[in-house]
Amino acid sequence: MRERVSGSAAARYAARVQPPDGAAAPADGTGSALLGDAARLLRGRRVVALTGAGISTESGIPDYRGPGTLQRARSPMQHGEFVRDAAARRRYWARSVIGWPRVAAAEPNPAHAALVAMERSGALAGIITQNVDRLHARAGSRIVIELHGALAEVACLGCGAREARAALQARLIALNPWLDVDAAAAAAPDGDADLTAAAIDRFRVEDCGGCGGVLKPDVVFFGGSVPRDVVGAAYALVDDADALLVVGSSLAVYSGYRFVRRAAERGAPIAIVNLGPTRGDPLAALCWEARAGAALPALAALVAG
Ligand SMILES: NC(=O)c1ccc[n+]([C@@H]2O[C@H](COP(=O)([O-])OP(=O)(O)OC[C@H]3O[C@@H](n4cnc5c(N)ncnc54)[C@H](O)[C@@H]3O)[C@@H](O)[C@H]2O)c1
Ligand SMILES: [Zn+2]
Repeated sequence: MRERVSGSAAARYAARVQPPDGAAAPADGTGSALLGDAARLLRGRRVVALTGAGISTESGIPDYRGPGTLQRARSPMQHGEFVRDAAARRRYWARSVIGWPRVAAAEPNPAHAALVAMERSGALAGIITQNVDRLHARAGSRIVIELHGALAEVACLGCGAREARAALQARLIALNPWLDVDAAAAAAPDGDADLTAAAIDRFRVEDCGGCGGVLKPDVVFFGGSVPRDVVGAAYALVDDADALLVVGSSLAVYSGYRFVRRAAERGAPIAIVNLGPTRGDPLAALCWEARAGAALPALAALVAG
C-alpha cells in the first residue's frame, strides 16, 4: 500500500514552496518537518537510493537542470553523432580534455558520505546513480549501479578494449602540446569549454592503439542505450526494496524516472530530496525541498543511527 506522509498532492507541493515551520527554517531545507517525516518513512525499510547530478553539485560538478543552470545553453553530445562524425568527436575530446581535470579532482561531499553511513548501518541496500562522476564509489559506497557509466573509463567501440581515462588524458595532452589546458579550464569554470573553432579543428584525437577503432568515454550519451544487464540489475534492486529515496535528480531523463515508476507500481513509498520540482513528484509520498549536502547527513543520523 502506498503511504502518504504529508497528505494530499496539494499539501506536498505547498511544503516545497513554504516549509511548515516557516521563516525560521534554514534555507537548506533541513529545518523542515519533512526531515522527521522522511526518517519515519525510511526507517526499518529496505531502502534503495536513486541519485542524479544534484547530489554532486556541492562537489563542484554542475548539473543540467538546476535553478542556476536553466539559462545555460547546452547541447549534450548525442550518441549517433559521436559514432558517425569525426568532427563531433574532435569537438567532444577537445572540450573534454579541458573539463575532465575538474571532474577527476572533485571530492565526495557530505551527501555521498551519508549514503555510505546508511549502507554500512544496513539501512540502505544500494544506489542506482545517473551520475558519471564515480563519487559514490570514491566515497566508499559498495553497491552502486552506474546507469550511465563513468567518465573515468574509456572503451574502444571496435575491439572493446578499456582503459583508464587518466591514461588517455595524458596522451591527448601530449598530442596537443599547444593547448593550454589550465588556462582554458580557468576561462570556462564549469568545464564546458568554449574553444574556438580553430582550436577544435587543430585538436588531434587518438584512436585505439590495438585496432584503430573509435575511443569513447564509457558513458551513455543522449540517444545511447543503457546496457540491458545494467538496467536489469537496477530493476532487481528496486524490486527488492521497500522504499525508494531519490536525491538530486529532476527525473527529466526517462532512464532514471523508470525506476520511480517501478517503485510506485510496486507500492513502495518514494521520498524525494531535491531542490526544485521533479517529474516524480506526483508519484512520491514525500517531496522534501532541501540541499542534499545538508539534508542527507541529518536523515542518515535518524535512519542509520
Ligand atoms: N555529476 C554527474 O555525473 C553529472 C552532471 C551533469 C549531468 N549528468 C548526466 O546528465 C543527466 C542529468 O539528469 P539528472 O536528473 O541527474 O540531473 P538534472 O540536472 O536533470 O537534475 C538535477 C536536480 O538536482 C537539483 N539540485 C541541484 N543541486 C542540488 C543540491 N545541492 N541538493 C539537492 N538538489 C539539487 C536541481 O535543482 C535539479 O532539479 C544524467 O543522466 C547524468 O548522467 C551527470
Ligand atoms: Zn580497439
